[in-house]
Amino acid sequence: MVLATSLDVETLPPPVRALCERLRGAGHGAWIVGGCVRDLLLGRSSGGDWDVATSARPSEVRRLFDRVVPTGIRHGTVTVLLEGGMRCEVTTLRAERGYRDGRRPDEVRFVNDIEEDLARRDFTINAIACDPATGRLIDPFDGRADLARRTLRAVGDPAARFAEDGLRPLRAARFVATLEMELDPATERAIAGSLDTFRKVSHERVRDEWLKALQADRPSRAFDVMQRTGLLGVSFPELAATSGCAQNRWHAYDVWRHTLVVLDAAPRDAVIRMAALLHDVGKPPTRAWSEARGDWTFHGHERVGAEIADAWLRDYRFSNDERERIVHLVRHHLIRYEPSWSDAAVRRFVARVGPDHVEPLLALARADVTARGRPVDDELRGLETLRARIAELGTRGLVARTADLAIDGRDVMEALGIGPGPTVGLVLRALLERVLEEPELNERQRLLALLPELDARLREGGS
Ligand code: CTP
Repeated sequence: MVLATSLDVETLPPPVRALCERLRGAGHGAWIVGGCVRDLLLGRSSGGDWDVATSARPSEVRRLFDRVVPTGIRHGTVTVLLEGGMRCEVTTLRAERGYRDGRRPDEVRFVNDIEEDLARRDFTINAIACDPATGRLIDPFDGRADLARRTLRAVGDPAARFAEDGLRPLRAARFVATLEMELDPATERAIAGSLDTFRKVSHERVRDEWLKALQADRPSRAFDVMQRTGLLGVSFPELAATSGCAQNRWHAYDVWRHTLVVLDAAPRDAVIRMAALLHDVGKPPTRAWSEARGDWTFHGHERVGAEIADAWLRDYRFSNDERERIVHLVRHHLIRYEPSWSDAAVRRFVARVGPDHVEPLLALARADVTARGRPVDDELRGLETLRARIAELGTRGLVARTADLAIDGRDVMEALGIGPGPTVGLVLRALLERVLEEPELNERQRLLALLPELDARLREGGS
């Protein structure tokens, strides 16, 4: 990689350049800084978010632009909304002092020197500024050289940078994955000493970093850093405990290594990858030696894992929808498909996991099987067969829930002359079982004809 001394101004979006020109026209300094400069140098898209550092005070920025959101006035940041849905965070040049709570500076001192502003930033690759008029780069900490050798290095003293903001060590882990970089050894060593500050970081911020890390080509790189530096032990002790948890003869790796391989093999989808990360979290607490098998067993690990995952995802403020889908995948990740399954067994499987979850579950199962590190061709073929059989059944109108039946609760009450109550649900459930065996039964008249017999069986206490 050639160390450019400037960026082609044509690569800077015109609205961002116009914003800087306006600030400069009013007599202020303005530079493009941070992740967007880094991403331009790497030839990556940095999305629609841009950062500008300026000597103008927030009140002056608000006067100069129409559409301004006061996102962090106390720290000198406002967001200017630009055309085309672009957003630009405009931050007054500052030097920060003291972070007693490890999250927010106690005192913000506005300065007029861009280099002083760059010195408070986290990593050298994020501490490069670009003059928007000429494209000239201001790079006092050799961030470009670190980009070229793909080294992630803190600006100045890593312990001081991490003490300022406890999220920074986790950002380091994320960048190792998303930017495919290696951690500078001194920067990595400083993480152990920053864990108490990291503990104070809000769970929402931690969640956001995890979600960003999961979008990397190889997310395992971030989680490997978290494990070896102790960050994972702070956030999620049960997951950290999978390291060193040896498995049985079906696996070549311990639970943690296996998990990392599953993670990278899973499709780039936050829910599936999060489920990949958590799918075996129930193994350490369920591990037991079986004399009969002469091997380790993990009975019920999917159920225990789902409980651990549920509690953690709540604690880390994942949305209810994400949490429910992730927990569901963890709960059902073991697919014990056998070629001997009847069509009714395939239909029962779909009914159990829910039609919407079949594809993500098969994707997770494929990654899980592949990641054993042992020959698995038969099992992969089995999963493919299962997918094909489900697709074929799907074309014939798959019935998976009682709501898919050709009659509903009202029909049941009317036909049996009963009022609302648990019996209605039991009857519908019994009908569903019959239809899973024989889908042709799912016609209104045929179901109504079955009702007296089912009702009698339920009354006798059978099913
Ligand atoms: N920054 C920092 N310390 C932090 C967060 C941010 O020093 N804890 C600085 C860095 O210079 C960073 C810039 O603020 O580049 C913008 O931060 P942010 O937008 O959060 O991250 P980016 O580096 O832009 O990366 P990404 O957009 O991928 O999150």
